Amino acid sequence: MQTFEHIPSLRAALKERRQAGETIGVVPTMGYLHDGHLELVRRAKAETDCVVVTIFVNPTQFAPNEDFASYPRDAERDLQLLAGLDVDYVFAPPVEEIYPEPLQTTVSLKPLGDILIGAVRPGHFSGVATVVAKLFNIVGPDRAYFGEKDFQQLAVIRKMVADLNFPIEIVGVPTVREPDGLAMSSRNVRLSAEDRKAARVLSAALEAGARRIGSGEREVEPVLAEMRSLIAGEAAVRLRSLDIRDAHDLGEVQSIDRPVVILVTAQAGSVLLIDQREAMPLLPSAQGRTILAP
Ligand code: PAF
Repeated sequence: MQTFEHIPSLRAALKERRQAGETIGVVPTMGYLHDGHLELVRRAKAETDCVVVTIFVNPTQFAPNEDFASYPRDAERDLQLLAGLDVDYVFAPPVEEIYPEPLQTTVSLKPLGDILIGAVRPGHFSGVATVVAKLFNIVGPDRAYFGEKDFQQLAVIRKMVADLNFPIEIVGVPTVREPDGLAMSSRNVRLSAEDRKAARVLSAALEAGARRIGSGEREVEPVLAEMRSLIAGEAAVRLRSLDIRDAHDLGEVQSIDRPVVILVTAQAGSVLLIDQREAMPLLPSAQGRTILAP
């Protein structure tokens, strides 16, 4: 495994691999790796010849009042984990390599980047889309791997790639969870023991919501009400947003008559947690039988 801090040396190494006919997979991360990231790397290893993992805590996706400075970092441990998975290249640039001077060009998606988490964190998805576009241009991958946990981020990146004709296949990888259901996240280490325990309520509420939809509920509000009341039972968890949206484009749904995604954002102590779960409604067939929506 080779580690690069600078763009020209990474590009030179990748050029050779490309000339040898190899396919390139990229896994963009902000480091402090957990099993969710490692699952992305395993998928990339299985599906491409040469895997690049980027580690860059991107300042432009954090608002001034957010946790950029305290975002967890442990480069040494990250490199050990990646070497254990036989990653080819790690790109871990300093901030000046990515932002040598203030950008005049940014990528923002409207309305996709401004709704849901984008409404709670204005500017966040523009920071994400811009740095991912830069990383794509630096690495030039055939495939790029992202977790489904950050469902809106995945939707934003897919739309950016389609709108701007990046010749890259975006692969969404299912959320990896702790044994008690909590979605893995680098931020989980900052939860106090009490908040960590309380945070389980998010995956439990998502499961309850998906179950209710799966058993035939077509109205949005009763599903949300049941989930809100479950989450309210945990005083340590403050709900920031809860939505049921079209799983394809995150558009609003009046009635649950197609595959949807339930998206939750909540605060536990100073930690912002997000999670999601897709849900399939039951649709009555012409013969009166019940079938799952495609
Ligand atoms: O999901 C993340 O870790 C980040 O948002 C990403 C995609 C690496 C961009 O900084």
